[in-house]
Amino acid sequence: MKELANIKEVKENLVKLISDDWALVSAGNKDKWNTMTISWGAVGELWGKDVVFAFIRPQRYTKEFMDNSDYFTVSFFDETYKDALKICGTKSGRDCDKISLAGLTPSSDGEAVYPSEARLVIKCRKIAVQKMDNSGFIDGSIESNYRSGDYHFVYIGEIEKVLEK
Ligand SMILES: Cc1cc2nc3c(=O)[nH]c(=O)nc-3n(C[C@H](O)[C@H](O)[C@H](O)COP(=O)(O)O)c2cc1C
Repeated sequence: MKELANIKEVKENLVKLISDDWALVSAGNKDKWNTMTISWGAVGELWGKDVVFAFIRPQRYTKEFMDNSDYFTVSFFDETYKDALKICGTKSGRDCDKISLAGLTPSSDGEAVYPSEARLVIKCRKIAVQKMDNSGFIDGSIESNYRSGDYHFVYIGEIEKVLEK
């Protein structure tokens, strides 16, 4: 993969990539890792850094890997991997080897792990994590996303590297 100078070199619309094409968020290491599909999230600026925001519900197996790792990756795929992303977004790594089922294999970059099949990888150093709660919800309809009180944890990662095929 080729390293881009920074996230601004990605000319595609990152909102579309996340919301329509979906992404995988991965953490752990090459020997033991997990990945899950996300379609909510953001790439932006905070604290003078290029950052990624990933929103992970407490029950996700991936959360354990996010909590135990200093790095995580957000990766994007060709359309041909949509079924793989469906698998990673409906099955839990807690219950089955969904990574093999999805036909994915790990690659690493330093302490970060990502699926080798990705066409664009954002490597993030975890710099903050915050549990959401409803005290700041101004639009009451937001609460309907949390019928079992499973408020997201927001993981904020400083973008350290962007890799593209
Ligand atoms: C299109 C799509 C988008 C998703 N986006 C998110 C998300 O942003 N945050 C989240 O916590 N779960 C999201 N999920 C659900 C997880 O991907 C799903 O529960 C997954 O099976 C968790 O796997 P794990 O238990 O191995 O971590 C999404 C699922 C799909 C299909």
